[in-house]
Amino acid sequence: MGATITIRETLAIDEAEWRRLWDAYNAFYETSVAPEITSRTWQRMLDPASTLLGRIALVDGTAAGFSLSVLHHGTWVAGPVCYLEDLFVDPDCRGRGIGRKLMQDLVDRGRALGWSTLYWHTRENNPARRLYDEFVKADDFVRYRMQL
Ligand SMILES: CC(C)(COP(=O)(O)OP(=O)(O)OC[C@H]1O[C@@H](n2cnc3c(N)ncnc32)[C@H](O)[C@@H]1OP(=O)(O)O)[C@@H](O)C(=O)NCCC(=O)NCCS
Repeated sequence: MGATITIRETLAIDEAEWRRLWDAYNAFYETSVAPEITSRTWQRMLDPASTLLGRIALVDGTAAGFSLSVLHHGTWVAGPVCYLEDLFVDPDCRGRGIGRKLMQDLVDRGRALGWSTLYWHTRENNPARRLYDEFVKADDFVRYRMQL
């Protein structure tokens, strides 16, 4: 029988597993996030009043991936806008449709909850674009980003 993949909100019981995946995600990007920022992100995810949305993928109950998004207002639309900031699947679990399910989860939630738009950025040469192209075609906007 195939493994069961479940996507749900991130809960307090997921902390150790989520941190393991978060560390692997940062290693993938060859970066490190300060421990206090990671802790604050974790706390915000659990806070129902926060606009940070954490979703976790479980394979037969074991954490295998996550998405982290931020909901914000838009000036051109009525409903909330969702920025998908982080998406990651454990390298041992890739190629089994978990990334696709994490994306579809946001699409489904957004449609159910009246979000107007879901958007995300990626590097031009990220192989994940094969997955993204299944959902929507990239537009021709260019990102400007200034460190302050
Ligand atoms: C991107 C990522 C989340 C995809 O997770 P995944 O569970 O392996 O994705 P899926 O199994 O759902 O793949 C769906 C499709 O996308 C394609 N795809 C996704 N990631 C791919 C990759 N790294 N290389 C090649 N193809 C990829 C596959 O063609 C696959 O199609 P198929 O099912 O017809 O084979 C995962 O590769 C990852 O965590 N990468 C490192 C972090 C990253 O790049 N995050 C995105 C930042 S913008």
